[in-house]
Amino acid sequence: LIQPQPYRPAYHFTPPHAWMNDPNGMVYYKGLYHLFYQFHPYSNVWGPMHWGHATSPDMIHWTHQPIALAPDELGAIFSGSVVVDWKNTSGFGTADNPPLVAIFTYHNEADRLAGKRPPQSQALAYSSDNGASWTKYAGNPVLKAAPDQGDFRDPKVRWHEASQSWIMSLAVGDHVEFHASPDLKQWHLLSQFGKNVGAHGGVWECPDLLPIRVAETGGQKWMLLLSINPGGPNGGSATQFFIGDFDGRNFVLDPAFASQLEQDGPQWIDWGRDNYAGVTWSDVPAADGRVLMLGWMSNWDYATKVPTSAWRSGMTLPRELQLHRQAQGYVLHSLPVRELDALKGRISQPQTATATEGLSLSGRALEQSETYVEFSLPGGNSKAYLEFSNAQGEAYKVGLDGQTGRYFSDRRQAGRKDFSEQFASKLHTAPRHAQSAVVRMRVYLDRNSAELFADDGATLMSELIFPSAPYTQVRFLVDGQAAQPAAFTVTEIGSSQT
Ligand code: FRU
Repeated sequence: LIQPQPYRPAYHFTPPHAWMNDPNGMVYYKGLYHLFYQFHPYSNVWGPMHWGHATSPDMIHWTHQPIALAPDELGAIFSGSVVVDWKNTSGFGTADNPPLVAIFTYHNEADRLAGKRPPQSQALAYSSDNGASWTKYAGNPVLKAAPDQGDFRDPKVRWHEASQSWIMSLAVGDHVEFHASPDLKQWHLLSQFGKNVGAHGGVWECPDLLPIRVAETGGQKWMLLLSINPGGPNGGSATQFFIGDFDGRNFVLDPAFASQLEQDGPQWIDWGRDNYAGVTWSDVPAADGRVLMLGWMSNWDYATKVPTSAWRSGMTLPRELQLHRQAQGYVLHSLPVRELDALKGRISQPQTATATEGLSLSGRALEQSETYVEFSLPGGNSKAYLEFSNAQGEAYKVGLDGQTGRYFSDRRQAGRKDFSEQFASKLHTAPRHAQSAVVRMRVYLDRNSAELFADDGATLMSELIFPSAPYTQVRFLVDGQAAQPAAFTVTEIGSSQT
């Protein structure tokens, strides 16, 4: 019997069944994007973790693959990364057929519960058949924690050409450690970062250190993505970033970014509550050159309680990250990957809304949609926003508050929220980075989610929503009155899951 799954996204990745959290091992190889993920196949809540696996030619259409890694006597399989070992430094493959190597955390829950330390260590598995099957390395673990160390996890590894070595970023409680290796097997500590920098409201998780181009200058900076739980800007888990330089040993903050941190506080990649543990794809071809990431679209505050049962948790839209250098400092932009465009306009042509009525759409049309609205900065203490609503009287509001100059996402009346007090008790807000008098918002709805990309991706708010029936109307309102924006279109988005 197939249960109806009204909240299962149509164009976002979800597991075939059961519980999922972090994206893992994201790597591009031979024309396919691989996505592994924290998976508990026997339940719809967290448990002994496996690595689920899926592949896609475009990060939008996914094919589920067999489970890649399962727990064994060393522990459960926590988050980590996959690299293409092009030079076969590990010896796991051949020069002609370089191996894919997974670097992951073993987590021994029995040890942790018994107070035995350290419960976490880093280990390897490899594949010589393009990721179809995986062999765990007989010499595991390859990196052990100090005897008294608790949190020691989420290795993200990349090849560093200048020092001809592999660099691992690792989350160690309240800071990141960088380790280096010639062959992925022997590691030595390079440096630490972050003890007194950035947000520290919770434990540090899922670091990712990567080079990124500055759009305005073409110069290169290094960015560290870092997830934290709890301590996010609107509560619970969230992901911050740091901009600096990396010389093969130390990550040092860029001075302009350091003063930004001092002035404005932590910098977040997404101010919504549902984008966590995101990291970037490894081995994206240089000719492509994009920085591509994906996050887990949930929040540890309520992830195990959201009202879905056959499956639980999806991923965010895959995003391209672009670093901009503006007068006030660095601004990280995120945009949905262009591959998503192939799903637009398949069902119907974009529709233009009218000022007084907004746009009423029948059936399920709005729940898989992109709404684009362009309007002038609201003056005084006006609020300008989109309102998505249904006949049940539920409404999701997302827009800009003229008085505070901040974006807001209001899911307090958007639908079901009784499953957790932490889900929808507050208004969520985000700073506006753009200075222009014209405001542009793009909002993607996909059954149980709303993702705001404002000002060409300068401010993001990714949020889960659980309307008890699909929204059928969208209106643009200023202080509760229908208003005429400069542009207002709605485009249906096709399904990527068949
Ligand atoms: C982040 C996280 C990681 C860990 C994994 C366990 O959400 O806590 O730090 O490896 O989830 O499932």
